[in-house]
Amino acid sequence: MFITFEGIDGSGKSVQAKRCADLLSRHSPVLYCFDPGHTAIGNAVRGILLNTAHAEMDPRTELLLYAAARSQLVTEEVLPFLNKGGIVISDRFYDSTTAYQGYGRQLPLDLIRRLNMTGAHDLVPDLTFIIDTELHTASGRVGRAADPDRLESESQAFKQRVQQGYRAIAENEPERCKLIDGNRPVEAIHREIRSFLEEKLNIEK
Ligand SMILES: Nc1ncnc2c1ncn2[C@@H]1O[C@H](COP(=O)(O)OP(=O)(O)OP(=O)(O)O)[C@@H](O)[C@H]1O
Ligand SMILES: [Mg+2]
Repeated sequence: MFITFEGIDGSGKSVQAKRCADLLSRHSPVLYCFDPGHTAIGNAVRGILLNTAHAEMDPRTELLLYAAARSQLVTEEVLPFLNKGGIVISDRFYDSTTAYQGYGRQLPLDLIRRLNMTGAHDLVPDLTFIIDTELHTASGRVGRAADPDRLESESQAFKQRVQQGYRAIAENEPERCKLIDGNRPVEAIHREIRSFLEEKLNIEK
């Protein structure tokens, strides 16, 4: 089982992904990872991607770097863990690329799809929670961050396109993607995710 958490910055992905990992680790071995990063190579690439000094980065360079970091994460960590029968929970995965580089940067979506499949070694998540949180609520949550990274420093229009992108992904792939209202308290969101998983994985309550 491969589960991913997606959403704009400050939507509440990491909090919910970790709660979900805690919950499922009572039943199976769980690997919690984050994309981009987690591996030595992935973290080095993440540093290049988020560095605000790299203002000149071309959108295709950005796309390729995300795919490269993900490829390393998938081969080094995700696939071996899944092959041993574990559950992998990833904080962001290729839907972030569709939302940010596809809808945000407006690169062609067919190019994004090809690169997503290449970087993911054709691995498709079994289940994706898209945490849908209003922009002002999400930015209020992360607003206290002293140094926004290169993507967090993008315009409001870019962030709106990213949010619309996530909603489009949920609409296009309703079997895989579950849109979750992220404007509620942490506990209410977790309860919804928990009951969905209990049903889906048939685990006892
Ligand atoms: N539902 C919620 N209600 C109020 N605060 C929340 C909620 N979910 C998360 N937070 C808080 O908002 C901040 C951002 O949450 P979190 O780190 O989970 O977001 P994220 O989507 O992972 O953001 P990023 O993309 O920047 O990693 C944290 O301080 C977290 O404790
Ligand atoms: Mg996070």
